Amino acid sequence: MSVIILGIESSCDETSASVVKDGILLSNVVASQQVHEAYGGVVPELASRAHQQNIVPVVDTAIKQANIDKSEISGIAFTRGPGLMGSLLVGTSFAKGLALALNIPLIEVNHLHGHVLAHFIKNNDEKVDEPKFPFLCLLVSGGHTQLIVVKSFLEMEIIGQTIDDAAGEAFDKCAKIMGLPYPGGPSIDNLAKQGRPDVFKFSMPQVDELDFSFSGLKTSFLYFLQKKVKEDTDFIEKYKADLCASLQFTIIQILAEKLVKAVELTGIREVAIAGGVAANSALRNELTRLAAQKNWKLYLPIIKYTTDNAAMIAIAGYYRYLAGKFASHDITPVSRVKI
Ligand code: KG4
Ligand code: ZN
Repeated sequence: MSVIILGIESSCDETSASVVKDGILLSNVVASQQVHEAYGGVVPELASRAHQQNIVPVVDTAIKQANIDKSEISGIAFTRGPGLMGSLLVGTSFAKGLALALNIPLIEVNHLHGHVLAHFIKNNDEKVDEPKFPFLCLLVSGGHTQLIVVKSFLEMEIIGQTIDDAAGEAFDKCAKIMGLPYPGGPSIDNLAKQGRPDVFKFSMPQVDELDFSFSGLKTSFLYFLQKKVKEDTDFIEKYKADLCASLQFTIIQILAEKLVKAVELTGIREVAIAGGVAANSALRNELTRLAAQKNWKLYLPIIKYTTDNAAMIAIAGYYRYLAGKFASHDITPVSRVKI
């Protein structure tokens, strides 16, 4: 009999639902919340309300697009955390209610596992080139920057992580300093294409082993611009593309240096990236260059599955379902959780 999983994602500002049948994606509906743009960042209270508004139509559309009847669903996977508590509560409560009504298993998914397992989202049963276990994954999102050894669909080990800000946060906060819209990552990526990466130099953090740090970069970027704007009020406007390219170059250097070290330390040459920042075109180019030079097998996720989506939750839930890992109905969301 087929296994059909409904996945629900509501950890931050995307309400998303997806249906996966026997490991193949049938639908993935994502409702992004525009309401936060005016505030230059996600407002938790507004995010929960928007999830509450969106969840029913988003799930309904995902089921319709998958062309299934809800009675055929085998299990409901939901993001338990990490994320914003109010946002997580909406998805968790909805998943519980529907699982209870349909009398089917409830499956908790760690949002970070979802990002990593986005590499296994398949649109049909054609054979695709997937990472082989164990592989190394650089997870770079708005909330996390981690180096992970992925041992199986269920077992992952963090071997390095940021001690302060995440890489996506560095993009977003520096974009805000330059007056760019939220989220800043995509804007910096685009503007950097017209800029020169070697015009401005920002210092690299000194952090032990496989850990990362981005808060110093953000602060030095802020002080540098405050000084320059005092001398010339049009400085940011004049040099926007070069600033974006130089900042992006520094962030990529920080990430690449640690990834190289992680490959050396673990001896694992199957290398993947995941999370919103994995959409960054210059990061993808630089890692492609490094992989060829260092003889790694590199896996770049499909762009639309890098940022938050329920397809990654449904696929992670599918593998948990196969392993019989079900959640009880007294489960609660967790805003902070390790991999
Ligand atoms: O994975 P994600 O959707 O949410 C979290 O779980 O945090 O990641 C969102 C982050 C934001 O910081 C956003 O600026 C960044 O991913 N991002 C990018 C790009 N697209 C999204 N950063 C750099 N370049 C991009 N093209
Ligand atoms: Zn995420």
